[in-house]
Amino acid sequence: MDLGLQNQLAIVVGGARGIGLATAQLLLEEGAKVELWDYAQSVHQTAEELQASFPNRVSARQVNIVDAEACTSAVEAAAGAHGRIDHLILAAAIGSGKFGFPFTNLKPADWHRVIEVNILGTANIAHAIAPRLIEQRSGTLTLLGSVAGQIGSQTDPPYSASKAANINFMQCMAKDLAPYDVRVNLINPGMVQTDLNRSVWQGWHDQQPIDQRRSYEDWAGEKVRKVIPLGRWQTAEDIANVIAFLISPRARNITGQAINVDGGFVMHC
Ligand SMILES: NC(=O)c1ccc[n+]([C@@H]2O[C@H](COP(=O)([O-])OP(=O)(O)OC[C@H]3O[C@@H](n4cnc5c(N)ncnc54)[C@H](O)[C@@H]3O)[C@@H](O)[C@H]2O)c1
Repeated sequence: MDLGLQNQLAIVVGGARGIGLATAQLLLEEGAKVELWDYAQSVHQTAEELQASFPNRVSARQVNIVDAEACTSAVEAAAGAHGRIDHLILAAAIGSGKFGFPFTNLKPADWHRVIEVNILGTANIAHAIAPRLIEQRSGTLTLLGSVAGQIGSQTDPPYSASKAANINFMQCMAKDLAPYDVRVNLINPGMVQTDLNRSVWQGWHDQQPIDQRRSYEDWAGEKVRKVIPLGRWQTAEDIANVIAFLISPRARNITGQAINVDGGFVMHC
């Protein structure tokens, strides 16, 4: 199926690894040009590696999404370099790195960084890109939420709350930007084996009594088999497939939607 993404410019924020990187790779395979943004310096190395397979279609910028001015400057620079920006996918987020069950295990201060990156960072990106898409009267903005934001997941309450906020803000933006034919959607991944997933789950694993403790991989694999109706992990490529469809003209009547790619974990309508 041709998704019609050839020569379109997609910015993938959080593109140095994980779901962002898989999305960048797939969009390149679909013929798009990709800018990888990430606060990790490794984003340049990642872009160089992709360049080898997709010459002249990959670039990188080191951008920290908590810095509103940096987000605006990066949008201006990308628009200057490419003429237009067709799509922005925001896949940068963090967890608190602490076991949050019950939530009183955390201190209020443990919330700050998560909120700063996951909520305020989303606002910074949205404020930077929206005027450009409005002016073009076209484009898409895709956020990454989480099933944790739909079910009051207790594992990492600041993370869950921030992801619920992402879902809500996505709907707000979709309404505001629809008159300009700009579509805004969000994917809720289920459980994907990335650094972020491990950072959210590691503290939970470490709660097991030491004499009964299994390796992280065994423990996490069994949890996934038990709680996911399809009984398997999701992959970063599973998420990327849906993002590629959602940003394509084939999804031109889809906006304001939170779409789960979670093996059936959450079955809300
Ligand atoms: N992995 C999962 O199981 C899972 C489940 C549900 C939702 N998600 C969501 O999917 C998205 C991608 O997650 P992932 O698992 O690929 O994570 P990841 O940790 O593998 O990748 C996140 C990327 O974001 C970057 N990043 C973090 N903070 C940043 C900042 N301030 N500025 C710029 N870049 C920053 C990191 O350097 C990293 O490259 C996130 O929104 C996450 O909440 C993931």
